[in-house]
Amino acid sequence: MNSLLRKKDVSKIVAEATPLKRTMKTFDLTMLGIGAIIGTGIFVLTGKGALTAGPALAVSFLLAAICCGFAGLCYAEFASMAPVSGSAYSYAYLAFGELIAFVIGWNLILEYALQAATVSAGWAGYFNKLLEGFGFHLPVELTAAYGTTPGVTTYFNLPGFVVVLLITWVLSVGINQTKRVNDIMVIIKLAIIVLFIICTIRYINPANWKPFSPYGIYTFQPGSTQPYGIIPAASIVFFSFIGFDAVSSSAEETVNPNKTLPRGILISLAISTVIYIIMTLVMTGVVPYMDFAKFIDAPVAGVILATGLNWLAVIVNIGALVGMTTVMLVQLYGQSRICYAMARDGLFPKLFGEVHKKYLTPFKGTWFFGILTAIAGGFININILFELVNIGTLSAFMIVSAGVLWMRKTQPNAHRGFKAPGVPFTPILSIIFCLVFIAGLNWETWVRFAIWLAIGLAVYFGFSRRNSVLGKQAQKKARKAIDEAMAAAETKTETKE
Ligand code: ALA
Repeated sequence: MNSLLRKKDVSKIVAEATPLKRTMKTFDLTMLGIGAIIGTGIFVLTGKGALTAGPALAVSFLLAAICCGFAGLCYAEFASMAPVSGSAYSYAYLAFGELIAFVIGWNLILEYALQAATVSAGWAGYFNKLLEGFGFHLPVELTAAYGTTPGVTTYFNLPGFVVVLLITWVLSVGINQTKRVNDIMVIIKLAIIVLFIICTIRYINPANWKPFSPYGIYTFQPGSTQPYGIIPAASIVFFSFIGFDAVSSSAEETVNPNKTLPRGILISLAISTVIYIIMTLVMTGVVPYMDFAKFIDAPVAGVILATGLNWLAVIVNIGALVGMTTVMLVQLYGQSRICYAMARDGLFPKLFGEVHKKYLTPFKGTWFFGILTAIAGGFININILFELVNIGTLSAFMIVSAGVLWMRKTQPNAHRGFKAPGVPFTPILSIIFCLVFIAGLNWETWVRFAIWLAIGLAVYFGFSRRNSVLGKQAQKKARKAIDEAMAAAETKTETKE
């Protein structure tokens, strides 16, 4: 039992610094955060969100932002205590020990890899719209995952598959190149969002905002197992904020991480929240919320077409593609760094922890998960994917928040470059919000998540527990103590004789 709870200590986790290059500053981290945050959530899931909550979707965004704000403060405190790769995984190793750390690392695979897969599905939707705008039509069978388009037989999301592999290549050859590519893409994404807001704001018809909240807080419609209202919509659009935590995965490549990491997390979260709320109000003001059913796969493009500004649609489609590309870039980056940290601890096979001699990146791990993500995005339904991502992330948020509470109690004097304000209320509220959002998801998602956890536990008890570096160190120590005790006993016997 004790072995399941074996923990690292803060000084040790920091001392395990790695040969990754330190090049990231606050601006880069903010760009990394916005790069990870604004993507499929606003460009695709607003459609489902508007149908679920009506114009009150703006309130759902606000609630999701508040939840992420509380969790973000907790992430920032941990990131400033232990500025190392691995994000929530490393924090859980400090606070709760190996088993919970493994479970969180396992859930982060859902968060990062499946998220990139979800985004690749959204990316394909906008890519097809863009090509259609120029009169090109790819065969429908090859442009969406199986079963995603009602009334049409689709087999494979080829554009999503290809873009994930391209991003994997960019990531595998080095952080400098990645940072520059990411910065340019984030600036394009923000410029296009501002253009969208400026051009469409005058088409708002306030009558479309009435009724503002047609389904109230939480309700079921007759004949449907899917919940409706502000909370279920918040559970959906929670996806839009995921990504800020990926900033903390880059701790080992950050200059002065104690200050830079919390700033990067909170600034990127604040900017995205303002953008989301304005965009949602504009979108539901221009088009009656029920009409979102007509363009559920590309709602921003749909809203523009409703205004008749067809030239804008082309530009915004390109912006959406760029935006979603940065999200995948950051997620796949975060994924490889989590596995890197887990492999270094012996919980994942060694190959994920190998750093490429020339590029100084976890090259093999990056490609392994890149290929897996490409396959998931190529074949699995986006609705299944994004709900799993949300539940995996919410569980990680809860553990990180609980970890802050626990560490304040058990290690009150540990160095904290940043202290979350309002503890214990901040982490407690974060946990409550996460639980409410989990309740807003479909029950099928809970079952899938339970299966995923069961597989994870099998991996832990079948592989990780035996190969844990911490475990081996403990065994070595125990063996040494036994050897010493036996030697002492033998000497004693010899002296007697
Ligand atoms: N927050 C990211 C997005 O919306 C995952 O695409």
